Amino acid sequence: MSLLDEIDPLKAEALVEFNAATNQSSLDRAKGAWLGPQGRFTGLMKQMGALSKEDRPLAGQAINAAKTEIEKALQEARERIELATAAPREPSDFTAPGRRPSLGRLHPLTQVTEDIVKSFRKLGFVVADGPEIEDEYHCFDALNTPADHPARDAQDTFYVASDGRPLLRTHTSSVQIRVMKEQKPPVRIIVPGRVYRRDTADATHNPTFHQVEGLYVDRDVTVADLKGTVEFVFRELMGSKTKIRFRPHYFSYTEPSFEIDFANSLTRKMGKDWLEIAGCGMVHPAVLEEVGLDPEEWSGWAFGFGIERIAMLRYGINDIRLFYENDTRFLHQF
Ligand code: DAH
Repeated sequence: MSLLDEIDPLKAEALVEFNAATNQSSLDRAKGAWLGPQGRFTGLMKQMGALSKEDRPLAGQAINAAKTEIEKALQEARERIELATAAPREPSDFTAPGRRPSLGRLHPLTQVTEDIVKSFRKLGFVVADGPEIEDEYHCFDALNTPADHPARDAQDTFYVASDGRPLLRTHTSSVQIRVMKEQKPPVRIIVPGRVYRRDTADATHNPTFHQVEGLYVDRDVTVADLKGTVEFVFRELMGSKTKIRFRPHYFSYTEPSFEIDFANSLTRKMGKDWLEIAGCGMVHPAVLEEVGLDPEEWSGWAFGFGIERIAMLRYGINDIRLFYENDTRFLHQF
């Protein structure tokens, strides 16, 4: 049998083997058996040298054509096996439990603020708000704050521009003025909101934080009303066994003024008998006059406290900066 006659049968046999390969090892074996150094098709090519000059071109063409076909079959087998053994693109276990989407929730400061608002609503208070970019009049002057008071310093207050001196409010007390100018007594409002001070951030300070302001103006309002209200709300927030104490203090917009301390199991856990929590007092006659109310006819009380402080105590958080980093490992705990 001549070499030419051997080509087709050999090629047919090789194609059968490559087409039958179902995995990498059977493919490797077929490749070695046909195209390897000792392979049967390689052997055929080696015989070319023994042909006569006349026969060689024809045989060469036939062998090359056959080789192309065999290599194509090898390539197809490779792709077929790769596809069959690759990781599945679709989940194949339809009984596997699904992935739960992770739900967001309210920020701890929002939760505490909502609780504070809820307690005051029970007593007939409504929520009011005012601008975070304030002016000196509402933040200081109308609150009877002296022109040379250190809180006004550029070291303590963020001034937004020198022209007209707009500033970022340093407390929510500015809203007292705005509301009393708008609304005739009786006034019963609370103002949760963001305030700004030029503090360097550390475990207990941040250049922006949150306060709640309270204001009640009516006829014959007394310190007893103030004390009763504060006691009710703090017991709701911090537990029914919470004790409250008023200490004399000074604020330019109240007279008399007090600081409020509280005591409960939380303060005892921190090794303290009393912990300062808020400032308050009876609205200063000069403030009432400034908003057009006669201090002989009207009286009122006001207070302000920090929301972060309450949240830190309630949840045992020891670094205020955690509230602003929005690390979900922190947020998921509330
Ligand atoms: N504005 C005060 C502060 O930022 C808190 C405060 C004290 C508010 C006494 C009041 C008040 O309304 O009567 O520290």
